[in-house]
Amino acid sequence: MSKGDFRNRGSGSSFGAVKLNDHVYWVGAVDWTLRDFHGYATDRGTTYNAYLVMADKITLIDTVKAPFCGELLSRIASVVDPGKIDYIVSNHAEMDHSGALPEVIARVKPEKVFASAKGVEALQAHFHWDQPVTAVQDGDTLSLGNRTLSFVLTKMLHWPDSMFSYLVEDRLLFAQDAFGMHLASSERFADELDKGVLEYEAAKYYANIVLPFSAIVKKTIEKAAAIDIATIAPDHGPIWRRDLEWILGLYARWADQAPNTKAVIVYDTMWGSTGMMAREIEEGLVSEGMRVRSMRLRESHRSDVATEVLEAGALLVGSPTINNNLFPTVADVLSYLKGLRPKNLAGAAFGSYGWSGEGAKQVAEALASMRVDLVGDPINTEYVPDLDALARCRDLGVQVGQKMKQRVTL
Ligand code: FEO
Repeated sequence: MSKGDFRNRGSGSSFGAVKLNDHVYWVGAVDWTLRDFHGYATDRGTTYNAYLVMADKITLIDTVKAPFCGELLSRIASVVDPGKIDYIVSNHAEMDHSGALPEVIARVKPEKVFASAKGVEALQAHFHWDQPVTAVQDGDTLSLGNRTLSFVLTKMLHWPDSMFSYLVEDRLLFAQDAFGMHLASSERFADELDKGVLEYEAAKYYANIVLPFSAIVKKTIEKAAAIDIATIAPDHGPIWRRDLEWILGLYARWADQAPNTKAVIVYDTMWGSTGMMAREIEEGLVSEGMRVRSMRLRESHRSDVATEVLEAGALLVGSPTINNNLFPTVADVLSYLKGLRPKNLAGAAFGSYGWSGEGAKQVAEALASMRVDLVGDPINTEYVPDLDALARCRDLGVQVGQKMKQRVTL
């Protein structure tokens, strides 16, 4: 096959690889236009990273989302004829990394494909194919001739099949989704990008993808401490060749979710009453010295709420009652947050109603099911809050603020 055969389908474009070192190249794809990653708002797009190891046995680590297969093959072709690839390793079967795998296999005809045992099952369940895939176990090594890959299973970080591959001689960890972020850029290395943007996007990724598996993150960081790592190459966003301690430290902090003095107020409102309550609660929290992020759901995406909750000490949620139920945007965010399993939160529920008043009670039930440490009963206001109701809201903010301070000092 000629190099031109691997140009991006339809565009005729040719793409280059980016050299990480003498043996390893980034050959992934940049998706500048992605704005929704299964319900997560990706305002800065993303990358699907794949890596080419130019060892005696030429090895491709992960692939890309299916529509970007041509870009992947074109980048590989800028280094070597893709038909010369010997091995493909699938660290993670989610389709943003495996979508192009069947086409890549068909075109390069590798000698072998490797995945974890759960990865073998997951790939089968996705592609229903007759492609043999060799299962690797935790600690297994694979000789690439002049290089060695070692496999570290990271089950449930964040799928059952997830694993890391470690290129021993280069001290390079291919970390699939861990330590990644949804951030499209022309720069391939984290040290070329703004640190504030990196921290925000890494936090957003952690909050929306990794948070439910924080206990596994802690164990994985302990495991990683025993490995000599010079570079972390994730499957999304930039590559970490410096500041490894910084990103590992952030992961340790996010995995802990220690109590702190930031409160997130999340609410929606129909005629402004629940919004008035949110403002008074905010004032009560501020009077206790708390930092507050107040997010009306009509303007705030669920994934941005999750990002704020990641480093919060309290979550206060308000909903009007509509047709004996929660307001739909509030139901959406509560369902989403429950799945992400944030921990160590104080909280409270509030809302207004016209005649039945189930909304605030349902919020309280949802928060209790998330093990939020609730302060008081829900405040439920008929139609428009009067001065007495607003005073109760302010007092609720004060009480939550006091509870947060207690939790920080415990
Ligand atoms: Fe980037 Fe879990 O896929």
